[in-house]
Amino acid sequence: MEKAPVWYWGFFLFWLLAFPLAHAAAQPPAAAIASAHPAATRAGMEILQAGGNAFDAAVTVSAVLAVVEPYSSGLGGGGFWLLHRASDGKEVMIDGREKAPLAATRDMYLDSQGRPVAGASIDGPLAAGIPGAVAALAHISKHYGRLPLKQSLAAAIRLARDGFAVNEHYRRMARLRLDALRASQAAARQFLKDGEVPPPGYVIRQPDLANTLQAIADKGREGFYAGALARRLVKAVRAHGGVWREKDLLAYQVVERKPVIGHYHGWRVVGAAPPSSGGVVLLEMLNMLALRDVRAMAEADRIHYLVEVMRRAYRDRARWLGDADFVDMPLQRLLSPEYARELASSISMTRATPSEKLAGFKAEGGDTTHFSILDKQGNRVAATLSINYPFGSGFVAEGTGVLLNDEMDDFSIKPGLANVYGLVGAEANAIAPGKRMLSSMSPTFLESESGVAILGTPGGSRIITMVLIGLLQAVEGKAVEHWVRQPRFHHQYLPDEIQVEPGAFSEKLQQELKKRGHRLSIKERSWGNMQAVYWNRKDNEVEAASDPRGDGLAIKSSK
Ligand code: DON
Repeated sequence: MEKAPVWYWGFFLFWLLAFPLAHAAAQPPAAAIASAHPAATRAGMEILQAGGNAFDAAVTVSAVLAVVEPYSSGLGGGGFWLLHRASDGKEVMIDGREKAPLAATRDMYLDSQGRPVAGASIDGPLAAGIPGAVAALAHISKHYGRLPLKQSLAAAIRLARDGFAVNEHYRRMARLRLDALRASQAAARQFLKDGEVPPPGYVIRQPDLANTLQAIADKGREGFYAGALARRLVKAVRAHGGVWREKDLLAYQVVERKPVIGHYHGWRVVGAAPPSSGGVVLLEMLNMLALRDVRAMAEADRIHYLVEVMRRAYRDRARWLGDADFVDMPLQRLLSPEYARELASSISMTRATPSEKLAGFKAEGGDTTHFSILDKQGNRVAATLSINYPFGSGFVAEGTGVLLNDEMDDFSIKPGLANVYGLVGAEANAIAPGKRMLSSMSPTFLESESGVAILGTPGGSRIITMVLIGLLQAVEGKAVEHWVRQPRFHHQYLPDEIQVEPGAFSEKLQQELKKRGHRLSIKERSWGNMQAVYWNRKDNEVEAASDPRGDGLAIKSSK
């Protein structure tokens, strides 16, 4: 072999020395975590301090939330974990979304006359998809983490064993789902006190869940999807009218998907890919917004334009989107600037477009969680996790501590029929064995020379418009507290109304919008629980914020 010339070694040495230096400058001065529960944020921070990276912390935060926020997410549910690895810039969405069981059929929630059976896709184990959360955590830990899964799960195991105190939010959610929880003996034992909503401060201990987490810590995904635990899950589900089989659990696989990417006013937007509709709908909206100088508009014009943009993008959600492994979606076209121009050309600035005029459909008629993490190496995680409705299906499989999701309701159980969030869908989101149901969960990154934002929120169909509203704040250079606090409004094509948080629209604005033909639905309660982290690259500072509407906690590490 020929000897390498001297310049070659000089060149090599230069990069060896220069690369880490260049890299160090590109790292944030502090780590930060924002999540919906203080116990989860703190446990995540401890894992970072113990030498874990953002991905280990994501496993810890997810697992702790599964214990202390049982109404939001859990081992019996799924989610999307959007990752950015600083060492090589890899961006990936870990798709741990639930799948329809192999015995699922398209009309499984309809009676012989084709009418929906009340509650069938919401309460009890027939409503549960095959969970993906555990497979996702094992995958993230193995392929992206630094610490053993055992260590990342330790805090959750401890909290499941020792218990956590019930707060007002827990009580509200339990009240909402009291009937479903009472219908499952194991759920009533785990989450209620003598069949009633427990009083504030009551300690919820979950020994069965601690054992299940321990089995996962010992055996990885096998501890959940195979062996004794899998058999217990299947037995309990089938005994109560569900259709799971052991092969459903054995066959479950997470999928690494390429996020959808777009640009808005100099910011690169990294969004959730199908089977989430989040990224596509968000980028469609941004592409339409980019056509006008929205900031320069008078308030009523701006809200009107935003609403028209929301309406159109949600129409496409209902029409086109579903599981990428099952349906062909015209994503390239939907995300193109030409398409945005075409869609926006039908927007009148003086008149609301009735949704029924947009070719699409005729309609017949929460809880989830998000966290955002940045570590000192610059690794990022935005994750939105769910068991769908508060306390999911309300069903706990006896002896497992696992509360099952009711994510099957996110399918379009009948074309044009609204689901629990009022969303309609079509063929693309029809039920099929092994298919993932369409989601609105939208973990999102934003990046420009100015900074890096990590954000997301629960809130069913309203997730995507909340992320849009938060993102617009970020692009305007507002502090991260504003992104999470900003008053919210929402339009989702059908029902044809603007949903408005209490106090979000002044009387005058309401009148102006009504004059243009909009129907307003002023809600009694606010919505969402946004968790955001921002690394301001210009001032090299890190900020984090948790939505004041929730009980979450955002903290950053010392420098
Ligand atoms: O995946 C979805 O779009 C829904 N299952 C999310 C549900 C949700 O955010 C409820 N939260 N309030």
